[in-house]
Amino acid sequence: GPDADGRPFVVVVGPPGSGKSTIGKLLARRLDLVFADTDAVIVERIGRPIADMFTTDGEDAFRALEREVVAEQLRAGHGVLALGGGSVLAPDTRELLREHRVLALDVNLSDGMRRTGMSTARPLLAGVNPRATFRTLLEARAAIYREVATVQVDTSRRSPNQVVAAVLAAL
Ligand code: S3P
Repeated sequence: GPDADGRPFVVVVGPPGSGKSTIGKLLARRLDLVFADTDAVIVERIGRPIADMFTTDGEDAFRALEREVVAEQLRAGHGVLALGGGSVLAPDTRELLREHRVLALDVNLSDGMRRTGMSTARPLLAGVNPRATFRTLLEARAAIYREVATVQVDTSRRSPNQVVAAVLAAL
């Protein structure tokens, strides 16, 4: 199969609200592959929400654990692997991604805000001005997502099924 060589068929990156989990799951189903998500692996491992770890241990502790989990999951060979939005901030992780097929999902500010607004579990957007915080995050990371991407697909103003069709055409 596509992951017989012990690496994921495709790794999904992008900012919060770009649809990594939603699109990743649909894509896995369409390709008959398994889906894994590093955020979910981390939550399972620490036994509490990521937001709790940010508050209690700090972002640096989270990023260190995230680097380990991402490296391990890249080696584990899951079919479609979604990474947490900030994992590409680590140079080590970007280096590992050079050996993989990487789908970077894009989102504009308003759609990203709307989608993340449906969840309160995002510590980075929990400040007094989430819109400004989110705009800054998108601007600061745009070049990084572009750099690691093999394929980039914009999810703005598109339904999940439309995005999946665009991804399948582009992969
Ligand atoms: C983060 C994104 C989150 C989670 C953590 C940090 C980020 O994952 O890993 O809150 O820095 O963008 P999602 O991208 O799934 O929201």
